[in-house]
Amino acid sequence: MTTSPLDDLADQTQQLLSNIAALATIDDLRENEAAITGRRSVLSTLQKSLGVLAPEDRKDAGARLQEARRVVEGALEDRRQELRALARVEVLAHDRLDLGDVVVSAVQWPASVGHPNLVAITQRELEDVFVAMGFTVAEGPEVESDWYNFEALNIPPAHPARGMWDTFYVDLGEPETVVLRTHTSPTQIHLMEAAVAENALPIHSVMPGRCYRRDTPDPRHLATFHQIEGLVIDRGIAFADLAGVIETFTRAYFGPDIESRLRPGYFPFTEPSAEFEVTCTICRGEGCRTCSHTGWIELGGCGVVDPAVLAAVGIDSDEWSGFAFGFGIDRCAQMRHEIADMRALIENDVRFLEQFS
Ligand code: PHE
Repeated sequence: MTTSPLDDLADQTQQLLSNIAALATIDDLRENEAAITGRRSVLSTLQKSLGVLAPEDRKDAGARLQEARRVVEGALEDRRQELRALARVEVLAHDRLDLGDVVVSAVQWPASVGHPNLVAITQRELEDVFVAMGFTVAEGPEVESDWYNFEALNIPPAHPARGMWDTFYVDLGEPETVVLRTHTSPTQIHLMEAAVAENALPIHSVMPGRCYRRDTPDPRHLATFHQIEGLVIDRGIAFADLAGVIETFTRAYFGPDIESRLRPGYFPFTEPSAEFEVTCTICRGEGCRTCSHTGWIELGGCGVVDPAVLAAVGIDSDEWSGFAFGFGIDRCAQMRHEIADMRALIENDVRFLEQFS
């Protein structure tokens, strides 16, 4: 019987498989990998020796060798996964903080689990009021392009009205092209664009969210604050519809003893525009530091959507009209809960926060 280089292949394969099973760590595996399947491994040496076989035997021997390699490489990969998983378990066990004693001794039960901040609670309450009135709730991004925050809202570059919003710019792209939104009004634009694209007018939505202005915090202002925007686009909408919604909202949210009023105002994206004010709850209208001795607190602005804004998003203003409003969520919380200084909302004093759960 002639001998072939592959006579011991079965034993050699078994040997390799038990070597693989004996690898104890992932480092171990890395060190031995070359000897098991690499260029100087038994398998590679056998591969080279096939040349001594008669051509008619070579094909069969090659196939057997290939099969052996497949088995060995598969086993090596499986072992690699096992050892990796083991290493992960070890790291986790090693990094685990043993808090056993601390948990038992230091925490008073029942432990306090915290609750949403008053601003979050207020946002939810406002959403509820508007949802009950038939509005849907939408959200938009806090970082906006100049186009959404200003231009599409009928505030072209260098327009003097830009001074109404002290703006934080984001260091992205061309200077002063990306902003932290100064109000929630850009979300109106996103909503109208989407409605046009999906042929889904009318719109009856409110859009709550965080806004930013380069303002110095004082009893009525924060540099990071929250607004809720409202937008109705439908057929035959007029200023009277806006006034009705504002009045209904004020009664539903503040109760019967708080009055609201609309004063003529100016916003580039609404015409006519108004400022929306409520009785100062700190002094009940007498005048105090919080309301700058006027007896009224400005909650926000509103008005009939300017046809130029509808044109910017491709809505036909012969068919559609609408109104918009936007007011401060933090201000609402302040007036509803008679908080003299709004900065309390962000100071994280638990004695303050705990009162609103
Ligand atoms: N975006 C305006 C502001 O923050 C408020 C507003 C919203 C005015 C909608 C009119 C219509 O100053």
